[in-house]
Amino acid sequence: MLELFKSLADPTRLRLLNILQQGEFTVQELLEVLGMGQSRISRHLKILLEVGLLAVKREGTWAYYRLQPSDPLAERLLPLLEGGFAQLAEAAADRAAVATVLAARRERNQLFFDRHARDWDQLARQLLPTPNYAERLLASLPQSRCLLEVGVGTGGLLQALHSRSEMVIGVDHAPAMLAAARLRLQGAGLEQIDLRLGEMEHLPLETVSVDSTVLNMVLHHASDPLTVLREIFRVLQPGGLLLIADLLRHQDEWMRDQLADQWLGFTAEELLGWGEQTGFDKVFCEILAGAKSEYSVMLTGFKKP
Ligand SMILES: C[S@@+](CC[C@H](N)C(=O)[O-])C[C@H]1O[C@@H](n2cnc3c(N)ncnc32)[C@H](O)[C@@H]1O
Repeated sequence: MLELFKSLADPTRLRLLNILQQGEFTVQELLEVLGMGQSRISRHLKILLEVGLLAVKREGTWAYYRLQPSDPLAERLLPLLEGGFAQLAEAAADRAAVATVLAARRERNQLFFDRHARDWDQLARQLLPTPNYAERLLASLPQSRCLLEVGVGTGGLLQALHSRSEMVIGVDHAPAMLAAARLRLQGAGLEQIDLRLGEMEHLPLETVSVDSTVLNMVLHHASDPLTVLREIFRVLQPGGLLLIADLLRHQDEWMRDQLADQWLGFTAEELLGWGEQTGFDKVFCEILAGAKSEYSVMLTGFKKP
């Protein structure tokens, strides 16, 4: 208990807790936000880890720090502290610096997909073999009036989604991917599908405006998946369904560089935990195990109460 309270009696460590409330960050990103040297920050992180306020997720050469109280007292204390973080002198500047780091991550991703729009389908087939889950995904979608696909890429799924809904809206943040999707839809005579440029963290849609949302191999590109789930919760109608198909947690570090992935897939606990935190009800969570060289896929359905 003494160690826990001692760890909190330091302005930099309080700033770190406030920053990590806004997502997971590497030491490098924390250096950018705090404007301090690496050894100083590493020392503070070590102290916060030791008292059970943080967890670190090591993936290959990367280490992501996040708030995760492992001690019951720390668990009760954190929500109390969160109310006081706004009083920190640097709170506003830190929030702005966090926004800059997250914007840089999104920009890197957007540039990647703009560069690879033309060869994306081939690249994905080659580098990301998965079991065929498209039919299972479509069968989980009720017939709806307005369906949203977030992160449409080159639009491979849009045509099939069109058969499940009167109206389909597709959003992606890479203009070149949207252009490829538009071309594909024109070829299929489906120009009525509404394609919009936008970020999954700030969807270009009105509140409570869609019946179903599909995220197919997209959430692992999000800096902060919880923010994305909250944004989808905002645009869904009550009773609406969110369907997420994504990779099950794997260890293939190269995907960060070669496929601009932020997350090496997800565990069911992670995804279901964020769904619950957002206020969704779980409908199902299925794992489609990949054969020899394939990646396993997790298909999850959430319902907005
Ligand atoms: C791996 S591709 C998947 C495309 C498509 N859903 C599919 O399965 O073929 C990921 C797509 O998500 C888009 N994307 C990544 N981050 C995004 C963000 N923050 N907001 C909107 N779209 C994003 C990328 O531009 C890319 O087109």
